[in-house]
This record gives sequence, C-alpha cells and structure tokens, in this order.
Amino acid sequence: MIRAIEEADLPIVVQWWNKAEVMYYADDNPHPSKSLEELREEHHKERTEWSEHTERFVIETVEGKLIGDILYHSYRTDIRSAVMGILIGEEEYWGAGYGTEAIRLFLKHLFEHKRIHKVSLTVSDFNHRAIRCFKKAGFRQDGIMRDNAMIDGKYANHIIMSMLEDEYFLMHRR
Ligand SMILES: CC(C)(COP(=O)(O)OP(=O)(O)OC[C@H]1O[C@@H](n2cnc3c(N)ncnc32)[C@H](O)[C@@H]1OP(=O)(O)O)[C@@H](O)C(=O)NCCC(=O)NCCS
Repeated sequence: MIRAIEEADLPIVVQWWNKAEVMYYADDNPHPSKSLEELREEHHKERTEWSEHTERFVIETVEGKLIGDILYHSYRTDIRSAVMGILIGEEEYWGAGYGTEAIRLFLKHLFEHKRIHKVSLTVSDFNHRAIRCFKKAGFRQDGIMRDNAMIDGKYANHIIMSMLEDEYFLMHRR
C-alpha cells in the first residue's frame, strides 16, 4: 500500500538515499548523499511551500514494513502535468511486484482524484527492471536524452516515458 509520508519515516528514508547500490539506479545519479537534517528540511518544504507541486508517499508491505517511496513533483495546474519518481530502498524487495502495485495505486490517485492529464518520468536506459515495471504500468516511451548522466565514469542515456489520461482510462475502464 502507499500512504502519505510522515516525519517519523525519515530516519528509514535517509538510509535509502545513502545506499550506493540503490542510488545507482536513481535517474539523477550521481546522487549527492543526504543527512537526516537535510531530508527533514525537504520534508517540511514539501508540506508547505512546495505542497501545490509535490506529494510524496511511502510504500509499505502488508506487514507494515516501509520499503520505498513514490512521489510526483513539478505539478503544473495549467496543463495538468507532473513528473514522478519511485524508489524501493530495500533491495531484497526488488522484482517482487511491490513497484507495480505502488505505481497502480499512485496512478489511481493522480488520474482519478487529482484529474491529471499527463505524468512523465526519466529512467536510465540500463535500468531494465524499472523500464519493464513502467511499461507494465502502461507508460510509453517519449524519447531518449543521449549521454544525459555520468554513472561510474560512463555516460548513460535517459529514456523519457509518460502516460496520458486517455491511456490510463483505457487501461482502467470504470
Ligand atoms: C524500479 C523499481 C521501482 C521497480 O519495482 P519492483 O518492485 O522491483 O518491480 P516489479 O517487481 O513490480 O516489476 C519488475 C519487472 O521487471 C522484471 N525484471 C526484474 N529484473 C529485470 C531485469 N534485470 N531485466 C528485465 N526485467 C527485469 C520483473 O520480472 C518484473 O516483470 P514481470 O512482472 O513481467 O515479471 C524498483 O526495482 C526500484 O526501486 N529499483 C531501484 C531504484 C530505481 O530503479 N528507481 C527507478 C528510477 S527511474
């Protein structure tokens, strides 16, 4: 399930941000490490001055274990678009369907409650697990930004993917 992030979640979230093996896959790699204090400041801004443009949720197992987070940011009211990101910070939970389920619930929130028109994301082209997960959720490829990141001393391409409201409602007929 997903639920709104709370300040009490931050000590676990900060551990994910500082795990090289997890952040290797983040689209903004190389990723600066973060302190709990910095994360608290960011959380506060997300709840106040950024709250019209961003919303972050945590991903929990049915047993209540916190395993990741999912968010949108850069929400634009004029064209009803936003950019999303997802991270499962506990590697032993990768490839077990949690990402797919979290994205399903998140897209329901975006398209059915917030009435968004478009959600997009970027993903490194070597991140095959994430690409598969996004395609399964219904995302389509918009294009490629070549040599858009430097990862372990090598350039990587970023794939831009998106989903439009018509495509969402076609997949999830009410
Ligand atoms: C990307 C991420 C959110 C996906 O969540 P997940 O729970 O691992 O994904 P799921 O299990 O729901 O789906 C993964 C799919 O990819 C497949 N897969 C797993 N490893 C793969 C690989 N190396 N190559 C191709 N496909 C792979 C799985 O089999 C599954 O597809 P299937 O259901 O058709 O069998 C999660 O792995 C993660 O957070 N990774 C690290 C950070 C990251 O990459 N974030 C995204 C940055 S844009």
